[in-house]
Parts: sequence; structure tokens; C-alpha cells
Amino acid sequence: MMEYEERITAASAMNVEEEVMELSLRPKRLADYIGQKTVAENLKVFIDAAQMRNEPLDHVLFYGPPGLGKTTLAGIIANELGVELRITSGPAIERAGDLAAILTNLNEGDVLFIDEIHRLNRSVEEVLYSAMEDYALDIIIGKGPSARSIRLDLARFTLIGATTRAGSLSAPLRDRFGVVCKFEMYKEDELMEIIRRSASILNVQIDDESLRALARRSRGTPRVANRLLKRVRDFSQVKGTGAIDLDITGKTLKSLGIDELGLEGLDREILRLIIDRFKGGPVGIDTIAAAIGEERVTIEDVYEPYLIQAGLLHRTQKGRMVSQEAYRHLGLDPQGEEQMSL
Ligand code: ADE
Repeated sequence: MMEYEERITAASAMNVEEEVMELSLRPKRLADYIGQKTVAENLKVFIDAAQMRNEPLDHVLFYGPPGLGKTTLAGIIANELGVELRITSGPAIERAGDLAAILTNLNEGDVLFIDEIHRLNRSVEEVLYSAMEDYALDIIIGKGPSARSIRLDLARFTLIGATTRAGSLSAPLRDRFGVVCKFEMYKEDELMEIIRRSASILNVQIDDESLRALARRSRGTPRVANRLLKRVRDFSQVKGTGAIDLDITGKTLKSLGIDELGLEGLDREILRLIIDRFKGGPVGIDTIAAAIGEERVTIEDVYEPYLIQAGLLHRTQKGRMVSQEAYRHLGLDPQGEEQMSL
């Protein structure tokens, strides 16, 4: 038990300052949560209903690209329910005993958030089934013919699982979630609102043009939006007036190597690779991963969703293809020739 607790603490102590900052920018009430309208409206109904019946909320699965506010919303749910939130992740729970330790420490109604739940061990996942369904743990004591199983009752808790890939979840696990929510990328005006709110919390002035410029380069993601805002704030403090205007915003984005669509080095590298070495595609994802030197899942879960959303990349039966827009965005014409600049 102790061992597990220590690991959680070590992991969260890794970047305390950033974590504290990040947490302070996160809304604590559903009313302050911007975007994901359908998800938020439905959850409000389920939270209210559970509270009216004085029951724990049914288990919830969140899926969608990273950085879209899944952890934030889990925190809000716990807060709205007035219960404790425990945060862990699939890879952090190595053995069934680790999970048993967490589950037996939960109180009635508490929310357990498991990030990257698709990365749970099989043996751990099996323990979760009875915990979710019957609020019970079946523990095997002893070995061989004398082994016997005892059932341990748990407090009625709510599991919130988060994953970037719902398709990677086993059917038995997926079926045990009563509520399944898909997270979508944020629209420009939603991101503007999020940045406006964050700027006000950080006590920094920002004009509307800069809000829009940052929102446009946030890849549909609040986490990116808030990170960009903090970096522009740094630049404005050191090299500007302290207030954020379009001039300092432009300088910051240029210094960070972030282009008009919010693409950074590796995004452009992926597009360039497909254009330069594979004539624009189609090319298999494993080939791209090997050439770039990143893991396939990282490309699929972290880089691709926005490139696809932005219309720069397509998934086809035969592999990935870049679009005409991708050529234009990189300053190439669709035949792959470098455009002459005057
Ligand atoms: N910060 C991160 N995600 C947010 C959201 N969806 N609404 C408001 N602030 C946020």
C-alpha cells in the first residue's frame, strides 16, 4: 500500500509549480467550464439525478485527443458532487494489489480518475470488473489446492476513465461504463473565451486581436492555449510593456517556431517527410514513425488529430496522405516544387 502511495506522490511532485499553475487555471465548477457543450450538459443531468437519488454517479468514460480537459472535467464532477477525487493512470497501476490499495481507500461516492485507462494490465483490468459492477473485490488467498477466494466490499464509488483511443478498450471494460463522452476539439471562439478567462486569472491584459491570434494557434486545445498565453506573458514582461498586444504576440510565436496554424517543428517534419520522401503519400504510419523517430501511438494520438482536423493530412486505406493545403501551408506548390519567392 505504502509503495503505491509513494509512487503517486513522486509522480505528482515532479513538476509542482507547473501543476499548481495549471490547476489554478482549471475551472472548478461546471458553470465555468467552456466548450464540450453536449458533454457538459448531459453530465449536469446525470450529476443532478444522482444527487437527487442520493446515489453515486454511474461510471463515466471520456475519450478523445489529449489536452481537451478530461482531467479538468473529472475534477469538476467530483467538486459538484462534493466528494474526493483520486487521480491515477493505467500505467501507474502495475499490479492488482496496487488497484486494490486504491479502491479500499475510497469513501462512499468518491471519484477515482484513471487516465490512459487503455493501458491497464489485463490482470488489473479484471479486478476492476467486479469493483465497477458490484463494488466488490475478489481476492485469492493462498496457492494451489488450498487457495480460496474472499470477497471484500468497497464503498460505492464512481470511476472516471479517460483514454485517447476508445477503440483500444476491451469490450468488457467499455461495457461497464454507464456514461460515455466524446471530447471534441475546441472552436476558435471557445478558445478565445478560455484564454480571456486565464488572462484574467493571471492578471495580465490582452487585447482581442491577440486573443484571436493565440486561439488560432492553439490546435483546438485549451492546454496549448494556456501554455501559449503564459509564454506570451513572459515575453511581454521581459521585452514588452507587460500588456499583451499583437506585436508581442507575434514576436513570441516567431521565437517559439509556431506558425499560423499552430504547427511546430515535428508537425511540419511529418508533412515534409510525406511530401519529400513519399510524394505526398499514401504512406503507412509505421514507416512515418520509423523515419521521424517517434512511437507510432504518439504520432497517432498526439500529432495526427490536429493535422487531420486542420485538413492537412488524410487517413486512407493505403496510408497517410497530405492534402493540397499542406503543400501550400509549407510554401510548396502541389507538384512538390519549392515556390519561387521574389
Ligand atoms: N481550462 C482548461 N480547459 C478549460 C475549459 N474547458 N473551460 C475553461 N477553462 C479551461
